[in-house]
Amino acid sequence: AGAGAAFTLAGCLGGGGGGDGSETITIGSDIPYRPFEYETTEGELVGFDVDIAQAVFTDQLGYEHEFQQTSFDGIIPSLNNGNFRVIMSAMTITEERAEQIDFSDPYFTAYQTIVVLNDSEIAAKEDLKGKTVGVQKGTTGAAAAEELASEFGGDLTIQQYDQITGAFDALINNQVVAVINDNTVNAEFVEQNGNVKFLEGEGAAAEQGKNAPPYLTLTVEEYGIGFRQDDDELREEVNGALQAIRDDGTYDEIYSEYFSG
Ligand code: ARG
Repeated sequence: AGAGAAFTLAGCLGGGGGGDGSETITIGSDIPYRPFEYETTEGELVGFDVDIAQAVFTDQLGYEHEFQQTSFDGIIPSLNNGNFRVIMSAMTITEERAEQIDFSDPYFTAYQTIVVLNDSEIAAKEDLKGKTVGVQKGTTGAAAAEELASEFGGDLTIQQYDQITGAFDALINNQVVAVINDNTVNAEFVEQNGNVKFLEGEGAAAEQGKNAPPYLTLTVEEYGIGFRQDDDELREEVNGALQAIRDDGTYDEIYSEYFSG
């Protein structure tokens, strides 16, 4: 499905729970971003965010809910323009974004990471100097690439793609030498594609004393659900529901479905 496709999933329209089941929460999301939001070959929308949305909005809070495809670059203005009610798109909580929207409590930890081809000459991030990297436009991966560019005194070309799949294709086709993107999404790409690997090394995660994954981490980030700044009541309900699904084991169940290793 291309941009603009709206997903209306039978499984999402159950209602029930505590609310009256009549209000539909529309969720803006850039799809595909596997394993958070993507379509199966049968066209079913699945993913970690998709299951968390079901658990939070419908099972806990009793709303109906519906995902709506939107480009990631521009997702914040789109929320503020009223195109949908919330953002759920593996979105990192950043200071800059928090000036424009409010976030739920964090629901997932992520790291910026670098993937390259198996036979790549790039063995450390310093080797990227003078080269071209691919990122998804408007993401923290793009911001991490900018950061790297300034470390290199500007000597880095950043190719921006509307969707992460564009950056992944460019890597496979040798149009970029690396992709900078969220770790679990890169991990899924590595798993699906035998020619791709993570750049190794220690980094931000180890520095911050986090349980560091076995590859280079440029940043430590937390995902949040995004709300308009006048939507406090819904945001508080969602925070309560996020806590409830952590307490009752639902969160762990969903987590292990997508990240069991
Ligand atoms: N976590 C990154 C960010 O917030 C990337 C998110 C991209 N999400 C997506 N569904 N395409 O910038």
